[in-house]
Amino acid sequence: MIPLAALPTPALLVDLDRLERNINAMAGAFAAAGVALRPHIKTSKCWEVARRQLAAGATGFTCSTAAEVAWLQGRGVADLLWAHIPIGPRKVAFVVDAIAQHGGGLTVSLDSVEAARPLSAAATAAGVTVPFVLEVDTGHARLGVQPPEAVATATAIAALPGLRLRGVLTHEGHVSALADRTALERAGAAAGTLLVGVADALRSAGFPVEMVSVGSTPGATSAPFVAGVTEGRPGTYVYFDANQTRLGSCTPDQCAQTVLARVASVQRPGRPIIDAGVKAMSSDAIAAAGAVGVLLNRPGVTFTEANEEHGFLHDTGAVPLVVGDLVRLVPNHACGTTNMWSHLYAVRGALAVERWEISARY
Ligand SMILES: Cc1ncc(COP(=O)(O)O)c(C=O)c1O
Repeated sequence: MIPLAALPTPALLVDLDRLERNINAMAGAFAAAGVALRPHIKTSKCWEVARRQLAAGATGFTCSTAAEVAWLQGRGVADLLWAHIPIGPRKVAFVVDAIAQHGGGLTVSLDSVEAARPLSAAATAAGVTVPFVLEVDTGHARLGVQPPEAVATATAIAALPGLRLRGVLTHEGHVSALADRTALERAGAAAGTLLVGVADALRSAGFPVEMVSVGSTPGATSAPFVAGVTEGRPGTYVYFDANQTRLGSCTPDQCAQTVLARVASVQRPGRPIIDAGVKAMSSDAIAAAGAVGVLLNRPGVTFTEANEEHGFLHDTGAVPLVVGDLVRLVPNHACGTTNMWSHLYAVRGALAVERWEISARY
């Protein structure tokens, strides 16, 4: 056990009490509604977090990269959803090999017959069947077919050999654009309803649809609980972050991930410089309105800008920060911050109790 003051700075910390509460609260809400929970692994990329999510009832994980899929398959996780299009020869070969080697256990996401063709050819050549979900755009305007085109696209893809439609998927990330929580909840429910409608249309067209999968942290209190949705894929909830606090997905005391930093210089009054910049925090600003992160337990101090390894604070606090002071910073976006680090310290109170590896980064 190491006191926080003895850790190197900057350091990535995860508060174990908050982590466990976040895991259990989401698992409890999903279990009570009879909806499967398939968390997105990109938030933690950490087996110590993942195994706690599995123990609390997660059915498997959502992945965004081949590296995440390979890492979790190596850990023996039997039910993975790669929620990205397996495009290009390397990803196609990876999917087919992964399914051949592990006897299944991997579902991919597709939204066009063009992306499906090479996968079908490789699967057929290898003698495997690749299960897929059809991604549907319910408003995020990123991947996914428009709902009225879902049956035609599913029909075209399912006509290819070596592929099997399991269901439909959406990422209702557009709800983050809504600052008002009531409007956000309504948009989440609308996305779920739209997806269930697409699932019903596919069933009417003769497709068996076993998966109706929604997924996001801001939408995790609405979209998964629409009748007909079978699973939700929130990721950020495991740590939460400053963006989710602003969106009302959590309260500040639920944020489990922080960056520990030290004041290195106060040459300009009211402008302390810390030893954590964008390479510690990530430069992900999304909803941050100009801040690089939020200080924990330091009213009157804001984190206004950053260079690579220097952070610029603005200190109007009653007791000004001095050289050597420790500060803890809640990142804007937990997933982006995770990807900057190769390990983290698990913390209880003021003690680091374990050092955990972060896996499957680029
Ligand atoms: C396809 C997909 N599913 C689930 C999630 C999880 O959403 P969140 O990070 O809001 O928890 C994401 C996040 O980007 C995603 O892209």
